[in-house]
Amino acid sequence: MKKLDFFNQSIKVPAYVPWISKEDRYAVLKSLSQTMLTLGPTLEKFESMFAKYTQSKHAVAVSNCTAALHLSLKALGIEEGDEVIIPDLSFIADANAVIATGATPVLADIENDGFSISIKSIKQKITRKTKAIIPIHMYGEVCKIMEILDIAKSNNLYVVEDCAHAIGTFYKGKHVGNFGSMGCFSFYPTKNMTTGEGGMVITSSSKLAEKISQLRSHGMTKSLAKRYSSKYPWLFDVKEPGYNYRLDEIRSALGISQLHRINKINALRKKASAYYTTSLAKVKGIITPPIVDDRSHSYHLYTIRVTKDFGMSRNKLYNLLRKNGIRTTLYWTPIHEYTAYKKFAKLKDYPNTKKTYEEILALPLYPTISRSKQKQVIDCIIRNAKD
Ligand SMILES: Cc1ncc(COP(=O)(O)O)c(C=O)c1O
Repeated sequence: MKKLDFFNQSIKVPAYVPWISKEDRYAVLKSLSQTMLTLGPTLEKFESMFAKYTQSKHAVAVSNCTAALHLSLKALGIEEGDEVIIPDLSFIADANAVIATGATPVLADIENDGFSISIKSIKQKITRKTKAIIPIHMYGEVCKIMEILDIAKSNNLYVVEDCAHAIGTFYKGKHVGNFGSMGCFSFYPTKNMTTGEGGMVITSSSKLAEKISQLRSHGMTKSLAKRYSSKYPWLFDVKEPGYNYRLDEIRSALGISQLHRINKINALRKKASAYYTTSLAKVKGIITPPIVDDRSHSYHLYTIRVTKDFGMSRNKLYNLLRKNGIRTTLYWTPIHEYTAYKKFAKLKDYPNTKKTYEEILALPLYPTISRSKQKQVIDCIIRNAKD
């Protein structure tokens, strides 16, 4: 069988390496000794720790961020006939979550000075059917959330923040995810903290939190703990059919352990990002992402822009890095490019997304990346720069 390139031994600098510590392994092993392997005390502890960290009233853990987005929209009553505005430069999960409710995703452009969904484009896309906006805090940097909240308020729309990249991103003293009706997080292996697969919804509304926790477990009106503390555990109601979007105890245990060191993880990411930025600052044609002094960035991805002045296209640079054993990638191909979503797009409406897509490249970034690995990346870029 042909060996997959993913496991290629010539890779000297991987794009990402998950950081699983001794404590993480111990926490996972310990969780396996419980009698309840799902919907147990570890899940509850993870949720309350997450709520505390993000300073939110409620946190409900689910199987992944796509499920978090889907349930958030469902809980808000989004359904067939409705429209939800999402950025075109986004992961397909946002479109899929909207489609799962029966509603239509409407693709908006991004700004020309960064990666936030464009305010002008949102305004152009609002119709009588629009019910919600899903902005993304792209790569860990807070989006133009205040302007988005203003538009939402004046058009009576919900805002569901996609915080998949943004654990540890604060703005105006508040953790992201607390600005809209809900914030949705991902614990996919490449994210700042991981549970393997996993996700979380935060909200200040008890009603929405309750609805989401019911919908994540088939729509059952009583939690497992409540059922076993009542007279007959089999007695519960289902008011609205739900899903199995549960996060088990094993993943919750890993989540707790990772959350304990999220500030350290983010600090290491910031340090590594700052090293790239200082080292690449003078390379003509390379635009580096901002390094901010406050906590308004979680440094989830380090995405550079390879502009014309660099003298080589992004794809050429990608191939060169690859030949040198350095794996990079980009986030993402715009949603309008995929067969399944073309029908939701008006191709002339995405000039900024298209230009950005041609230029972006995410350099290897993970908390344990060494200076020498980063130096290989930096040297390879500098060696191939025009001047
Ligand atoms: C911005 C964004 N939203 C949503 C998701 C979906 O997350 P999950 O894989 O946990 O469903 C991702 C995953 O990569 C993402 O990057």
